Amino acid sequence: MKDLFGYTGKNIIIDGAASGMGLATVRLLVELGANVWALDIKDVPVPVKKFILCDLSKKDSIDSVIEQLPDDIDRVFCCAGLPGAPFSVLDVMSVNFIGHRYLIETLLNRMKNAGAVAIISSLAGMEWMKNYQMVGKMLATSGFEEAVSWVQANEQRIKDAGGAYGFSKQCLCAYVALKAMEFLSKGVRINSLSPAPTQTPMMPYFEQEHGQENIKAYSVGGRYATPEEMAEPLLFLNSDMARFITGFDLKVDNGFVAGMIMQQLGALK
Ligand SMILES: NC(=O)c1ccc[n+]([C@@H]2O[C@H](COP(=O)([O-])OP(=O)(O)OC[C@H]3O[C@@H](n4cnc5c(N)ncnc54)[C@H](O)[C@@H]3O)[C@@H](O)[C@H]2O)c1
Repeated sequence: MKDLFGYTGKNIIIDGAASGMGLATVRLLVELGANVWALDIKDVPVPVKKFILCDLSKKDSIDSVIEQLPDDIDRVFCCAGLPGAPFSVLDVMSVNFIGHRYLIETLLNRMKNAGAVAIISSLAGMEWMKNYQMVGKMLATSGFEEAVSWVQANEQRIKDAGGAYGFSKQCLCAYVALKAMEFLSKGVRINSLSPAPTQTPMMPYFEQEHGQENIKAYSVGGRYATPEEMAEPLLFLNSDMARFITGFDLKVDNGFVAGMIMQQLGALK
């Protein structure tokens, strides 16, 4: 059968590769024959082409990683993330948005052959359009340091607007929409995937901060997804099969948003 995914022999960069959805994605990429450069602050428990220690909250760390990556890159997967508490507003914004934006934009010129970027956002970022006045200010910053300064100056505003986690994910969803045309002119697609609650090592943080009942309220019938249930559609988004898809946020939610809009979730709870 034709290699529909098209990952065989491709040079893939993936962050957040050590755990949860990122790790599930790495396992599948390796199975599909990709050359995987895996980035994380923790060791990646799967044999890959190269594991590189990378702290996305630090520009110097990203710069040193970039020097070790190949000149010709086919796909970038951004899977790393921090939940809200106990992490600071600046750490959450730096890992979830600022570091990712810096990594993607620095690698853009190395994606010469129908490249693509897939970012894990969240249903928590779904309402980015309603908050675009503030999100647009974050997006208008240029580079790592200016973005950090903006966050430091607006920490209270971010807290008042629902917290760093949701704001960082709103920024990612908006970023995908903002950059779609610019990236397309360079032959590169950019999309995000917004998971419903998923059983990964991040889940206890969410349950601790918001209460299990409130997290379950974002699922259909109380079932959390598995990491593989996110990794598989993420692979699709960044594959040759999705070559006409860009600027899109794919909600992988077992129908949660549809059920919410149509007020049909109650029957399943
Ligand atoms: N689990 C959920 O319910 C859920 C729901 C929606 C979105 N998400 C998002 O999915 C993505 C994957 O998260 P997960 O649930 O698999 O959690 P996870 O904690 O298993 O994975 C997150 C990964 O990010 C890495 N990371 C953390 N800080 C880093 C840093 N400074 N530099 C580099 N890497 C760093 C961690 O080491 C870890 O490997 C995240 O972006 C998360 O926000 C998760």
